[in-house]
Amino acid sequence: MSESEGFKREAAYAAVDRYVRSGMTVGLGTGSTAVWVVRRLGEKLASGDLKDVVGVPTSERTAGEARERGVPLATLAEARPDVTLDGADEISPEVNVIKGLGGALLREKIVAFASGSLVIVADGSKLVGRLGERTPVPVEVERFGADATLKALAALGCEPKLRPGEDGSPFITDGGNYTADCYFGEIEDPARLEAEIKSIPGALECGLFIGLARAAVVSDAGGLRVLEA
Ligand code: 5RP
Repeated sequence: MSESEGFKREAAYAAVDRYVRSGMTVGLGTGSTAVWVVRRLGEKLASGDLKDVVGVPTSERTAGEARERGVPLATLAEARPDVTLDGADEISPEVNVIKGLGGALLREKIVAFASGSLVIVADGSKLVGRLGERTPVPVEVERFGADATLKALAALGCEPKLRPGEDGSPFITDGGNYTADCYFGEIEDPARLEAEIKSIPGALECGLFIGLARAAVVSDAGGLRVLEA
């Protein structure tokens, strides 16, 4: 296992151990770090350390992993998550985050918003001084009128790039939408940018998660730490 994979696992295991109790409903994020959350839940359910935990998955990928690991699943209509554990692409000192490079941001935000709390799990490479420093802001875009939506996004000061899928045609999310990666550089006012993006009708949701996370559990060579929002 690579060093960074080890850090992801350490953060995810610590987050499950700290935030998940028997009887809880847990929102299950998407990505290579969130996979470790599902694996830890599966281990603890199998050993009896946790009982009666159900997961609400944010993607088909995560749902598949949960089924394989023996984590029972529910929909948002059936159960409201007490806590959601999810990865991130960038984490600011205030624990605002950019998500969505893994292609599941709309469902991730729906589940996080419906949850009692959102806790981010990540390796230390995701920490930044200011959001936008390294990664674009992914935006989930309705396919109808996508060209017009990309133009409206560009008018906000970026060059939106329609994300390609594995075969070169546009990547399609679980919800059947496109994703536009919008690089703005360092973002001075993330809450304002989030509002501006969401004022565009074809921009269904963006990867700026502002004021949503309560904490981030982060692991790197400096050790394991919890950043409180
Ligand atoms: C998926 C996401 C992921 O949580 C984010 O991309 C981080 O992924 P990883 O843990 O693989 O680095 O937002 O939409």
